Amino acid sequence: MANKISLNGTSYHGPGAINEIITEIKMHGFKKAFVTSDPDLIKFGVTAKVTDLLDQEGLPYEIYSDIKPNPTIENVQHGVEAFKESGADYIIAIGGGSSMDTSKAIGIIITNPEFADVRSLEGMAPTKNPCVPTIAVPTTAGTAAEVTINYVITDVEKKRKFVCVDPHDMPMVAIVDPEMMASMPKGLTASTGMDALTHAIEGYTTKGAWEMTDMFHIEAIRLIAENLRGAVANTKEGREGMALGQYIAGMGFSNVGLGIDHAMAHTLSAYYDTPHGMACAQLLPISMEFNKEYTGEKYKAIAKAMGVEGVDDMTQEEYRNAAIEAVKQLSKDVGIPEKNERIKEEDLDQLAEDALADACYPGNPREATKEQVLELFRKLM
Ligand SMILES: NC(=O)c1ccc[n+]([C@@H]2O[C@H](COP(=O)([O-])OP(=O)(O)OC[C@H]3O[C@@H](n4cnc5c(N)ncnc54)[C@H](O)[C@@H]3O)[C@@H](O)[C@H]2O)c1
Ligand SMILES: [Fe+2]
Repeated sequence: MANKISLNGTSYHGPGAINEIITEIKMHGFKKAFVTSDPDLIKFGVTAKVTDLLDQEGLPYEIYSDIKPNPTIENVQHGVEAFKESGADYIIAIGGGSSMDTSKAIGIIITNPEFADVRSLEGMAPTKNPCVPTIAVPTTAGTAAEVTINYVITDVEKKRKFVCVDPHDMPMVAIVDPEMMASMPKGLTASTGMDALTHAIEGYTTKGAWEMTDMFHIEAIRLIAENLRGAVANTKEGREGMALGQYIAGMGFSNVGLGIDHAMAHTLSAYYDTPHGMACAQLLPISMEFNKEYTGEKYKAIAKAMGVEGVDDMTQEEYRNAAIEAVKQLSKDVGIPEKNERIKEEDLDQLAEDALADACYPGNPREATKEQVLELFRKLM
C-alpha cells in the first residue's frame, strides 16, 4: 500500500502570526465566523486576542462556548444547532484540542448531516464532503489538532472516548502563534507538552512509521526536549520551540497513528476525566518500557533527540534505558506526578478491555494481552 501524507492547507508560525487571520478571512471572502472556544479561554481573555482583531476590521462573528475539556457528544450536537442558527459560513476554532475537536465534529456534521448522531463518526467514517472551512488557532502546545486528521469525542453515557479519523476534518488554515499559548499555567504547559512528546515518540515507533514521518517525529522530539522546560518557565524561546515542535509532531502522527499509551490514556479520560496530556505523560515511560524490545534501533535516535550524550557508545539495552530515563527526567522536571490516584481496582478490567478496543491500539509495535494491560495500569496506581 502507498504511504500517504495529508497536511492542512496553509499554516502560519511564530510570534504575531495571529494577525494573518485577517489576511486569510479577506482572501477567502468569508462573511460571518462561528467562533468555537471554551469558557475559560473567554474568561482569561485568550479568545479576545482573536475577536479583537475581528472587531477592529468590522468582521461579524458569533461565539459558541458550550465546550468542556474532553468534549462530549452533547457539546457537538448543541454546536451543530448553534451553527445552523448563526448564518455563519466558516469556523474559527480557538483553543486546545477540546475546542478544535468540537469544531471539527461540528464542521463535519454540517456538511455531512447523515452523521448527526456523532457516534457514527467513530473510526474512519465514510463522509463525502469536506467540513465547513475552518481556521484553527491552537492555544495549547500539545494536540496539534490544527494539522491532524483526527478528533476525539467523549460518549458520557457509555463512558467511552472515541477517536474519529477523517481527512475531511482538516482545517484550511492553521495559525500557530506561541503568543496565544503564553497564558497557559505551568501545569497545563507541562501536560500538553508531554502529550506532544507522546505523539512524537508513539508516532516514531508505531507500526506504520516510515521515512517521512520519522523525519517529523525525530525533529519534534528534539524541539520538545529542548524547549519544554523553557515553556514551563514561560520563556519566549521555550514557547516558540513548543509551538513548532507540537505542530511537527502532528504532521507525523496524524498520518501513521499512535499506540498503547494513547489507547490507555483515552480510557482514563473517559472514566476519571483525567486531562488528556496528563494521562499520556504518566503512561509514557511505562509504555516505552513495555515496547522497548519491539522497536529495533529506534530508541537510539530517541535518546539522541532527547539530548542524551554518548549514545553511540552504548549497548542496545543501555540506549533503550537511557531514552526512557530521559523521558522520565523531563517529566519530573516539568512537575508531572508519577501516579494517578483516581484509578480504582474494580475498574481495571473494563479499562483494559476498552484500551484494547481503542483505535490507537492497533498501531502499537507490540501486541498486549488484557492481563498485560492491567499490569500497565497498575504501575500508575
Ligand atoms: N485532534 C487530535 O489530533 C488530538 C490529539 C491529541 C489529543 N486530542 C484531544 O484534545 C483534548 C485535549 O486538548 P488540550 O490538551 O489541548 O486541552 P483542552 O483543550 O482540553 O484545554 C484544557 C484547559 O486548558 C485551558 N486552556 C487552553 N489554552 C489555554 C491558554 N492559552 N491559557 C490558559 N488556559 C488555556 C482550557 O480553557 C481548558 O480549561 C482531549 O480531548 C484529547 O483527546 C486531540
Ligand atoms: Fe494526544
